[in-house]
Amino acid sequence: MNFQQIFGNLPETEASAPGRVNLLGEHTDYNDGFVLPIAIPQKTTVQMGFSNDGQHHFYSQNLDQQVSILEINHTPLGFASYIFGCIQILKKEGYKIPSLNLYIKSSVPIGSGLSSSAALEVATLRAIRQLLNLSINDVEIAQFAQQAEINYAGVQCGIMDQMASSLADTEHILFLDTRTLSFCLLPFPSKAEIVVIDSGVPRRLASSGYNQRRTECEQAAQLLGVKALRDITRLEATEDLPEPLRRRARHVVTENNRVLEVLQILETRHVASVERFGKLMNASHASLRDDYEVSVPALDMLVEILQETPGVFGARLTGAGFGGACVALVAKGEGRAIATTVLEQYNYHSGYTGRVLVPTTGF
Ligand code: GLA
Repeated sequence: MNFQQIFGNLPETEASAPGRVNLLGEHTDYNDGFVLPIAIPQKTTVQMGFSNDGQHHFYSQNLDQQVSILEINHTPLGFASYIFGCIQILKKEGYKIPSLNLYIKSSVPIGSGLSSSAALEVATLRAIRQLLNLSINDVEIAQFAQQAEINYAGVQCGIMDQMASSLADTEHILFLDTRTLSFCLLPFPSKAEIVVIDSGVPRRLASSGYNQRRTECEQAAQLLGVKALRDITRLEATEDLPEPLRRRARHVVTENNRVLEVLQILETRHVASVERFGKLMNASHASLRDDYEVSVPALDMLVEILQETPGVFGARLTGAGFGGACVALVAKGEGRAIATTVLEQYNYHSGYTGRVLVPTTGF
């Protein structure tokens, strides 16, 4: 079923936004720190038109499900909550939003930690911006999307995912300072490409574990007398914290330093440094596993198989953890072959059914 079959007329406008994979800088965004995500080829597309019955109608092609909403209704659940959230945030900002028809289709995998929700929010906001000719910039789009996620989908996320979906592309790595929101787009290393494999482990504990880590970081920052852990650059400063706050803070401090080292590597475009980038990804995984404790055995296994495979510069879990996907930096041209071999070994040894998400096989 297409837009016309659902709503009886053609869409007025259409906009898309990609999912993202974070290469380095995990669990640093809500500590005012640094991140290095890149867009993935999978994206969400929103077709939009005006509704003339005073209700919003959202149709998801993936779910073959339509949700209709009267303004006075409570926040809907599921995919509609993200869209409704975007509309409500725009209204709070003072924009007049008429009743809308939305048709959504997406190739961004759901539940793998590749920001399908940010892609939906950013695509929705872009489509509204186009339809109503609003002067909203891309950073504001990301901020509104994050507000929608926090206030209407109930996820206390940082700003990385929405900024990545709004600003990044598949050829450039986004370096973002999440405190100042200053950013730059850096060319992807010419010798390398990325592989993303979903572990097949559902991210069950993700939201409770995520919120707990956030609280621990806030406690650590308070004990250290700083606004956020971003303000700590020397590891020694964290040593007297009680456990587990010491290890949580150690992850954030070392992870921020790793991102800043890779930023320098990418800025100087030194070809040999892609090996160092890979090593820092490996170190990031060890830190997420041992200090931040957001890995699970299957992710550790997948990362280990990746790291031991020739042609892989480095690998780590990506996103919030507790399941989901792993990302690897590999030699250019070898991604597909590496992903196939690694997946075979992983499925055999782990008992889970993983999936190669990048390189894509077409969708
Ligand atoms: C999720 C959140 C992000 C970020 C990552 C962890 O993707 O939405 O804001 O905190 O986890 O790095």
